Amino acid sequence: MSFERAINHLELAAAAEALRPYWDTSLSSRPRPLPAFLTKEGLAHNARICGLDADTMHTLEAIRQRIVEDEHLIQLAWHCHNLLFSHTDYESLRQWPSLDHRLGEHHGAFYLIVAGSMVPLVAEKHQQLGVDTQITQATCKQIASFAGNYKRMTGGVGIPLRQLFWLRHYPAGRLFRLGRMEYMIKSFAGPVRVYRHRHTDQTVALCEDGLSFNAAGFMDGQDTWRSALELEPNRVRGQLISPQGFAQQHTMELDLADWDCVLQPGDSVIDMHIPAGGGMQLEKCRDSMTAAASFFGQMFPETPVQAIVCSSWIFNTQLEAIPLSSDNLVQFQRELYLFPVTSRGDDGLWFIFFQDPVDPKTAPRHTSLQRAVADFLAQGNQWRGGGMFFLLDHLQHFGLQYYRQQSAALNRDGLA
Ligand SMILES: CC(C)(COP(=O)(O)OP(=O)(O)OC[C@H]1O[C@@H](n2cnc3c(N)ncnc32)[C@H](O)[C@@H]1OP(=O)(O)O)[C@@H](O)C(=O)NCCC(=O)NCCS
Repeated sequence: MSFERAINHLELAAAAEALRPYWDTSLSSRPRPLPAFLTKEGLAHNARICGLDADTMHTLEAIRQRIVEDEHLIQLAWHCHNLLFSHTDYESLRQWPSLDHRLGEHHGAFYLIVAGSMVPLVAEKHQQLGVDTQITQATCKQIASFAGNYKRMTGGVGIPLRQLFWLRHYPAGRLFRLGRMEYMIKSFAGPVRVYRHRHTDQTVALCEDGLSFNAAGFMDGQDTWRSALELEPNRVRGQLISPQGFAQQHTMELDLADWDCVLQPGDSVIDMHIPAGGGMQLEKCRDSMTAAASFFGQMFPETPVQAIVCSSWIFNTQLEAIPLSSDNLVQFQRELYLFPVTSRGDDGLWFIFFQDPVDPKTAPRHTSLQRAVADFLAQGNQWRGGGMFFLLDHLQHFGLQYYRQQSAALNRDGLA
């Protein structure tokens, strides 16, 4: 079946350039009679492991039956599976066409079926690595989170095309769900350098050199001062970042006879990601972070890590002033060492409104989170992202707002 013939048959000429790469490779590798993810049993298995609900599974099965009646749709589904999971240099996932003219109202199910085809790949990789099957199953549930986003966006069954690329992390054995959150090892790219006192355990973050801040110590483009970090063999001088997430302009000096650098750009860290789904109670966050520390220590002992880090709208300190239906996010923030990150004004808003760009006047207002953030934006406030780190050695202090306590002592008593 030539590419042109298939594309013409499916009436997808407008998407030809996005779908052309690797077509012949897919054609020659096409399993007969069907790829496993297009069999009734294969789909049911994948959907169950991905955590999809009964209504969604019903819709997927109906669409599967329509796909397997059409040789060209089978070939397209197999091709999309390959583009997504085998050809990781392929970048046009967002340009994949709508199939509403072939599959009707539930056309989004096509790409959700393709996404679910990652399950056996993840299972195989995790088996090789010796990952517990419960973690494998939890990890695959990201598909249900993404399907939830699609439902919030459109009301239908599917998966946002802009999130497909993220799925490549799972069969690669990079990203794992451990309780409420997901984690992978990455190189730290935050704008801070963290020092810890050898005897008192006091932990302070200094700004990296040459960064621009506004008067309140955030990185939102309204620059009023620049950081200067001076590294000498025996001492370091720089501007302190409060664990409350803003930089302070005055310079402090640390004597390296007493202070160890425990985190700096380029260090391997456990990078946290927060799947959609609410329920960010403090105990769940603590349990998840504790599980991450132990998992990566056991699975990847060759890559020592000292911290969990994350950059997200979820660590935006403005949330302190935005009334939400629960204070889960603010409580979580208070346990962490927050730091500023470069913000453009739209950081992470897609995850709240599923629109890009967001217009606060017309943005969806279905949940208290959407209503509160839309109101905040409509008042003319400039939205920010935020960053956080948490040292693994401090997990025993989680729940005590450890960094804020230390900071209060520092402000009261000065440096040890
Ligand atoms: C951040 C998040 C986990 C909220 O956690 P939480 O504060 O414990 O959430 P709660 O369960 O208390 O819900 C708070 C409100 O947010 C709403 N909410 C939850 N998830 C949501 C989502 N994905 N989009 C929009 N609103 C959401 C809830 O419906 C609730 O509103 P309600 O009071 O009207 O019912 C949640 O917003 C979420 O899942 N976000 C998407 C994931 C994300 O943004 N990840 C980071 C990417 S950088």
